[in-house]
Formats: sequence, C-alpha cells, structure tokens
Amino acid sequence: MIKYTVFPDYFSLSKAAAERIIRQIKHNPLTLLGLATGSTPIGLYARLIDQHRRGKLSLSRVTTFNLDEYVGIPKDHPQSYHVFMQKHLFDHVDIPPARRHFPDTDKSGTQYDLQIMRSGGLDVQILGIGANGHIGFNEPGAAFDSKTRVVELAESTIRDNARFFDHSDEVPRQAITMGIATILQARHIILMANGANKAAAVAAAFQERPSVNVPASCLQTHHSVHVLLDTAAAGDLS
Ligand code: GLP
Repeated sequence: MIKYTVFPDYFSLSKAAAERIIRQIKHNPLTLLGLATGSTPIGLYARLIDQHRRGKLSLSRVTTFNLDEYVGIPKDHPQSYHVFMQKHLFDHVDIPPARRHFPDTDKSGTQYDLQIMRSGGLDVQILGIGANGHIGFNEPGAAFDSKTRVVELAESTIRDNARFFDHSDEVPRQAITMGIATILQARHIILMANGANKAAAVAAAFQERPSVNVPASCLQTHHSVHVLLDTAAAGDLS
C-alpha cells in the first residue's frame, strides 16, 4: 500500500519524515534503519540531530545499514558516503560505530544482505529518488529481484554527480548498492522527494505500471510505503 503526503516545502517534509523515524525509535529503541545519502535526507538528519541535542532522542541502540557507496574512491574521500554520513548524522548523534554498516566491496553483497537479515531485518528504509528513477544505485534496468551487488552507474547519474568532484575523471563509474529485493524486504519504506527536477521520476514511479526502466516503481509492489513530497516534486502527479 502506498500513502502519499504532499508538503508545502522541504522543511515540513523533512520534519514529518523525522517524526516518523523518531516515533519508530521511541516505539522500538533497537530499530534497524536503512539510511540514504544525497541532498534529500539532510533535513531529516538535521532534525534527528536537533532532537538528540535537546535530550529528546537517543539512538544508542539503533542499528543502521546504508543503501550504497561508491566504488573506486577511498572511504575518507570527501564525496564518499561514509564521509557524508559522518558529516550529516553520525558525528552528531550517539549511534555506536559498531552498529553502523555500509555495503563494502571487501565483502560480498550476499554477506551484507545476510547481515541485515540476521540482525532482524530493516524496520524502516529511507529512500530518495534519482532524476532517472533510481533508488540506492539501482539504475534503470536493475532487476526487481536484485540483491546487494556492484553496479555500473548510468551516464546520467555520472553527469548529475560530476558537480561534486573537482575533475570529471574523478567521478566514480561504479557503486555497491543494496538490491531492489533487499530494499523491498524492509518492513516499512519512506521515500522522500523534493524539487521540480524529481517530478517526472515521481510520476513515472507511481503513476505508470511497475517497470525495471523506473527502479522506484518497484515500490508499488510493497505493502507499506509512505511517499513524502513537496509540491514541486508532486507537480506531475494527477
Ligand atoms: C544518489 C544516491 C541515491 C539518492 C540520489 C538522489 O544517487 N545513491 O540514494 O536518492 O542520489 O540524490 P539527491 O537526494 O541529492 O537528489
């Protein structure tokens, strides 16, 4: 089942997404969270940090599994998702380092999926969406039964990401990502999108029949998805 909520702006969208996560953690302090990177969840993370600083939220027993990471740049590269998570969440809250997980080419993707399963499965997976409809780094064409694995990035994703790197030849061509099947195993999924550049992807994902050409459309097959949009990202929905 998919529930949609449209918010007037990014701030209220982020606040609502954070409240959903905070409720989950208060209900079950041992929550397993699937985390996303990209600009979209930064407001959500900022709100979690704020609540933690005010003494209203502890994440000391939460376990996290990140969706994806680039292949071919070191973990301490300023654009790595390890560094992103440190900067936007981990450095400011009390999630113990041993409870934070990333997919890693040192291990097989299967090991990552097994680790998630053995830890009890993801309670909530947070997702953004790429302008081409990707989730994690599952690019158009990714099979709906795919598991965590190394993937080639789409040319459009490489172009979208180029602005974050000094030279275009520095932009990673590959990533390791949770598979679509891995994501769909989460008990609940929240997908956030803001800005007009996401409107077409959102409409293709939720208004057309599910298709591997639009990876996020796989979410139509899941039993508990909440799509949080700002008015611009909802602009192409009828
Ligand atoms: C990257 C990430 C995705 C993210 C997407 C959108 O490709 N792998 O998980 O959803 O970017 O990023 P943004 O939120 O910056 O638009």
